[in-house]
Amino acid sequence: MHVTSSSSNKTTPKIDMIPQHVAIIMDGNGRWARTHSLPRMAGHKRGVESVRTAVKSCIKRKVNYLTLYAFSSENWRRPIEEISFLMQLFTLVLDQEVIKLHENGIRFKVIGDLTKFDQKTIEFIRNGEEMTASNTRLTLTIAANYGGRWDIMQAIQRMHTKNPGLINNFVENDLSQYLAMSYAPEPDLFIRTGGEQRISNFLLWQLSYTELYFTDTLWPDFNADSLDLAIKSYQQRERRFGRISEQL
Ligand code: IPE
Ligand code: IPE
Ligand code: MG
Repeated sequence: MHVTSSSSNKTTPKIDMIPQHVAIIMDGNGRWARTHSLPRMAGHKRGVESVRTAVKSCIKRKVNYLTLYAFSSENWRRPIEEISFLMQLFTLVLDQEVIKLHENGIRFKVIGDLTKFDQKTIEFIRNGEEMTASNTRLTLTIAANYGGRWDIMQAIQRMHTKNPGLINNFVENDLSQYLAMSYAPEPDLFIRTGGEQRISNFLLWQLSYTELYFTDTLWPDFNADSLDLAIKSYQQRERRFGRISEQL
């Protein structure tokens, strides 16, 4: 057996007490609405408040990257009324907030298959990304019409277009530079609210060594204290990346 590694050619990341990159599946808006006898849409609206809180809290705690799952490639299976509501809410929030993000030194990014969005929304996104491109306080990424499998497949396609010769012999780093989030380190902490314990096609490649945290708290109830609980749990983990404790 060869002693050299045949798995990952990636170096293990530097570990801090505060996760550098937090990725969240914001789940439970519908159930929050139901428990308050409100229509599902009211839950999504309240969810936007939690997004604001999460952004502020991450800045305060010096988290550098916050990635939020807003709409999955599977969410198209929902009733058409809910899909249109979510799309409208997304454009409305973009319209209102991007300038505020910029004023607060936040870099704004969107990952996902944007081809299904209307032209106006795509322009909004691209303008927002351009305007905020050199901000460094926090990188806020919204995953919209995102799927982890889509991401890996589009990366393979783009790598192949750029460098057709590579396809027969490539290493992880050749491919990972074409992934939608190649500008960010892989998430240190993953949070899913709403009680389900699954990844739902979120950042499949990037979560390979992320610490996972699941909470029953519904997304509209997720606040600064909830984030602190997640970070506290993160701080108790031993991240070994395949090694043993004695090697750390
Ligand atoms: C998450 O909340 C928001 C989106 C998927 C857009 P849900 O809408 O999935 O809420 P539940 O899971 O039905 O409570
Ligand atoms: C995952 O939530 C996607 C988002 C939060 C955007 P869902 O509520 O759609 O997840 P599943 O399909 O129930 O796993
Ligand atoms: Mg859900």
